[in-house]
Amino acid sequence: MSQPLFEKVAFIGLGLIGSSLARVIVAQKLARHVVAATRSQKTLEDAKALGLIEQGYSDPVEAVQGADLIVLALPVRATQKILEHIKPHICAHTILTDVGSTKGNVVEAAKAVYGTHLPPGFVPGHPIAGSEHTGVHAGKVDLFANHKVILTPLPSSASWAVDKLIELWEAAQAEVICMDVEKHDEVLAHTSHLPHLMAFNLVEQLASREDNLDIFRYAAGGFRDFSRVAASDPQMWHDIFFANKKAILNAVDGFEQQLGIIRKMIENEDSQALMGLLGHAQAARQHFNHMLAQKPLMEKNKVTQQFTILPGNKTFQGKFTVPGDKSVSHRSIMFGAIAEGTTHVTGFLEGEDALATLQAFRDMGVSIEGPKNGEVTIHGVGMHGLKAPASALYMGNSGTSMRLLSGMLAAQKFDTVMTGDASLSKRPMERIAKPLRLMGAQIQTTGEKGTPPVSISGQQKLHGIHYDLPMPSAQVKSGILLAGLWAEGETSVTEPEPTRDHTERMLRAFGYEVKTEGHKISLIGGGKLVGTEIQVPSDISSAAFFMVGAAITQNSDVLLEAVGINPTRTGIIEILKQMGADLTVENERIAGGEPIADIHIRGSRTLKGIHIPEDQVPLAIDEFPALFVAAACAEGQTVLTGAAELRVKESDRIQVMADGLKTMGIDCTPTEDGIIIEGKGKIGDWSAVFTGGEIESHHDHRIAMSFSMAGLRSSGTINIMGTETVATSFPTFTELANKAGLAIQVSE
Ligand code: S3P
Repeated sequence: MSQPLFEKVAFIGLGLIGSSLARVIVAQKLARHVVAATRSQKTLEDAKALGLIEQGYSDPVEAVQGADLIVLALPVRATQKILEHIKPHICAHTILTDVGSTKGNVVEAAKAVYGTHLPPGFVPGHPIAGSEHTGVHAGKVDLFANHKVILTPLPSSASWAVDKLIELWEAAQAEVICMDVEKHDEVLAHTSHLPHLMAFNLVEQLASREDNLDIFRYAAGGFRDFSRVAASDPQMWHDIFFANKKAILNAVDGFEQQLGIIRKMIENEDSQALMGLLGHAQAARQHFNHMLAQKPLMEKNKVTQQFTILPGNKTFQGKFTVPGDKSVSHRSIMFGAIAEGTTHVTGFLEGEDALATLQAFRDMGVSIEGPKNGEVTIHGVGMHGLKAPASALYMGNSGTSMRLLSGMLAAQKFDTVMTGDASLSKRPMERIAKPLRLMGAQIQTTGEKGTPPVSISGQQKLHGIHYDLPMPSAQVKSGILLAGLWAEGETSVTEPEPTRDHTERMLRAFGYEVKTEGHKISLIGGGKLVGTEIQVPSDISSAAFFMVGAAITQNSDVLLEAVGINPTRTGIIEILKQMGADLTVENERIAGGEPIADIHIRGSRTLKGIHIPEDQVPLAIDEFPALFVAAACAEGQTVLTGAAELRVKESDRIQVMADGLKTMGIDCTPTEDGIIIEGKGKIGDWSAVFTGGEIESHHDHRIAMSFSMAGLRSSGTINIMGTETVATSFPTFTELANKAGLAIQVSE
């Protein structure tokens, strides 16, 4: 066995939660030995028969001997007694955790045993997963998958213990969140304990009536849904209500007050107020649906991650394959889903944006296998096979998902709502809603300024239009063309300048005829797509950071393999070459209908500033943050014009980059549609041009990655805030960048 996470894990108690975690540990070989102590001999025998433990003990002291992880998986009220018993047998390096639903009382129990000197390995925890079933047989290896696990590290908890527990729970595919004990108990009182209390109480209220038989016999779905959790273990809830008494009483007070308000509205027949309350609550439920639907991968708004890049880097070298193209990955799922037959995708980008699209189609009833090592199999449902999702579709950070899906959803038979994270919620959606309305769609941008959420009413009959795009946007072009698949007659779009043409290319690959005549693209509605093989090339937009990194670093030598070089995406290559970069495109070939090549960059010449040709702007639209870093290292001025679109990307990339560059000592002037950057480099001189400093990325992945590259020419440390969105497009960024020679430290 290669290095397991733990030498010996001892479970004290082995019910639903404990045995599920044991299943994960055994299945993934996370420990050399797993043992348990429970009072029930039968549980131990069953656990052995299930292969979950190799030894069972009735005395916890025997179980914990030599254990480096002890999991208390028993009722919280038993914590103090057990701790007293096992305390002398816990070593300094042992991690001690629990899985109880309340945390304050667990900490109190530990303090009663240890006094104020709690062991460094003690980290209370609470997996928010469970079911009405109990016992060792009810456990499931995937019980925690896509669920949250809250750890409540104490001031005394050591980071090695916290880190290892995070690793353990992440292996169970849980999303780990750290919060303090009081916050945990207050949050849980409202979100879990109060709803359980209300469910038990309502069932009790109805069960005590004389006509209870009728009530239960004729109970409709509402009662069934609401009372489901009242089937849980009474003893456990009895304990929880006492254990979290203070926070629960607060929550009950709030409930009583709110109940009084609605009661009065009904009593006074205050129709307007009652409609207001119900409408508000319904909108809130819809708005937060995506959170209730548990999509942990995409719920990163609140997480703040930081990159720290230390100065002193000397090299930037290596051969790399960056992850799959984001634009192509999105489209492979969308088109595969509405095709007839099966679509097999390789090289799929397992980043959060593309996963948001994938999840949206799963939510609409499409069966999708994977992604696993970039492979995805989509069982297409045909043009009329999508089903109404149970709740709002959550698009995370992804503008591409929201705009392209707007077109597709406008043509469906069902209503949909799409929401997004903080960054996406600020992005303009009227640009796609407007042309779709001209096609007959019923679509509303319900945010403040034509921004998400986007609400779409189905059942509309769409008709083809011709639309002159007011801005160069592949997303808007694609959204309109996709609606056109279901529209009557021809749908055509004329773009002011060519933008990425992946939609056109891939629709053709799925057997759908799309005409391109100059700047005009058209198709005729009513056809069908046929499942196919899609090979996603490496994303030139991700490769761009490495190209710039190599171009600004002396003696660098980077080879980026199998990068997509679709001519509508190669502005970065052209612009870097014009700036004098030593860049060659080698081994050009075709893979899966898209041209690809290896890109070789060496830091052998100093860059010079240029006026960026406006016709290159749409072809390099996502690469400007990285190019601005290159411009700062160049000799002379770089001027960008005709790039107003940069202001409505994941952040206002002109302003945010200008702010960051200024912080790091670069003289630059943002303009309405571009920027002027005074390069600080000198031909033949590779010394630092940036001073270091604190950068705010505004939840924009490309801002974060661009300023990381600035670390290659910085005299001081760079701290970049809000870097969690890097995972939307380039989940392996820090790993690859550090392999090349950067020193990025990630902290959360
Ligand atoms: C994309 C189009 C571009 C680009 C985005 C992906 C696409 O956006 O910036 O990252 O996949 O169609 P716009 O259409 O807003 O220019």
